[in-house]
Order: sequence, then structure tokens, then C-alpha cells
Amino acid sequence: MKFTVLTLFPEFIENSMHTSICKRAIENGYLELETCNFREYTENKNGRVDDYPYGGGAGMLIQAQPVYDAYMAVTGGRKVRTIYLTPQGEVFNQAKAHELAEEEELVFLCGHYEGIDERVLEEIVTDNISIGDYVLTGGEIASVVVMDAISRLIPGVLGNHDSADTESFENGLLEYPQYTRPEIWRDKKVPEVLLSGHHANIEKWRQEQSLLRTKERRPDLLDGQ
Ligand code: ADE
Repeated sequence: MKFTVLTLFPEFIENSMHTSICKRAIENGYLELETCNFREYTENKNGRVDDYPYGGGAGMLIQAQPVYDAYMAVTGGRKVRTIYLTPQGEVFNQAKAHELAEEEELVFLCGHYEGIDERVLEEIVTDNISIGDYVLTGGEIASVVVMDAISRLIPGVLGNHDSADTESFENGLLEYPQYTRPEIWRDKKVPEVLLSGHHANIEKWRQEQSLLRTKERRPDLLDGQ
């Protein structure tokens, strides 16, 4: 998978993605990351990429020209799935992560200020994605969230690929509670069934716990089932 991120803050993306599991995945060649600061493409003599909105109103807008020229430079005009991070987008979830993980290449466009001139969005964006119903100062954090969720679905990225399957959301439910040593901690004992070695009973207990936890914490996930 190759991720290309168009952003005014490439160092934020580089620092975030060169950490932990994504860092290892980049080093081992499962992921490729390119960042492009579209400020470098502006035709404005002072290096500006923003201007006042036509019709008035608060804040500044990013102009179409630097974004489009940066996009053309990184894609060479090829059709690449291009994601704009915006609170106006489809709310990101695990199903969307799976869908995007099928692509060989993705471009992420991160906005700032009050947004980006609509005409360049019409020209290059294939998917509008929001990471939740709140407003961030820019799309960078959202792009890292989306890239991280996609990365761990790419075969080889997680050390033990099995561990992706049992996670929360993979079967529409939250994951069951887990325990490690010691067997008793602050008078709290690990559930007996997990010490029994009886695999069928353990599996049954885990399924029950998943359902219970989902009912308690995220009943909305059960509505569609
Ligand atoms: N940019 C600003 N807020 C955002 C959000 N909630 N999701 C994605 N991108 C954003």
C-alpha cells in the first residue's frame, strides 16, 4: 500500500506514521509513505495558499491552484482514489477501512483554515471521510487515524495476523475482556473458565461477553443485526 498525503504539515504526518507498528511496516516495505507540502506549489510570490472567501464570511480558504498542482505532481495525472478529510464526509468505520485496504494506492488531502475551494475538490476527490461528529483544526490527525486503521489490515503489517480478526468491530461486536498474569491482582481473580483449558467453553464465554459488552456499551451496533 502506498499512502500519499497532501498537507501543509508534512512533519506531523511523518512523525505520526514513523512510530510503532506503522514505522515497522514502512521499514519492512509493507507500507510506503510520501508526503507533499502543497505550499511548495503555490504561484503566490509570498508563499500564500489561502485567500478570503467570495461572498464574505469568517476565515480563509485554501486556493485550488496549489492543491491541484501538487496533486498532479504526485499522481502524474493517474486516477488514484483520493480521500478528503472533512467533517462533512461519510463517517469512517471498520468496513470502510477494509474497503480502502483493497487499494494499492491512496491519496489523502488535508485541509486547514475554513476549508478548500470547492472546484478543486470536485476535480480530484473520490471519497469524503469524517472521523466523527466534531470539528478538528485540520485533516492531518484524521488522515493518520484512517491510515493507521487501514495499515493494520494489510497482510504482514501485524506480527500475528490472527489478532486482527478477533478485534472489536470485526464481527460487528466489541471484543471480550482479556486478562494476563498474575491470576489474582488486588483480590480480583481471572474468570475461572479462562484457566480451564476447555477451548469450546472459552470460546462460548468470549462470545457471550462480546455480546454483553456490546449491549452495555454500544447498543447501536446491535440495531442492524
Ligand atoms: N477535519 C476537521 N474535522 C474533521 C473530522 N471530524 N473528520 C475528518 N476531517 C476533519
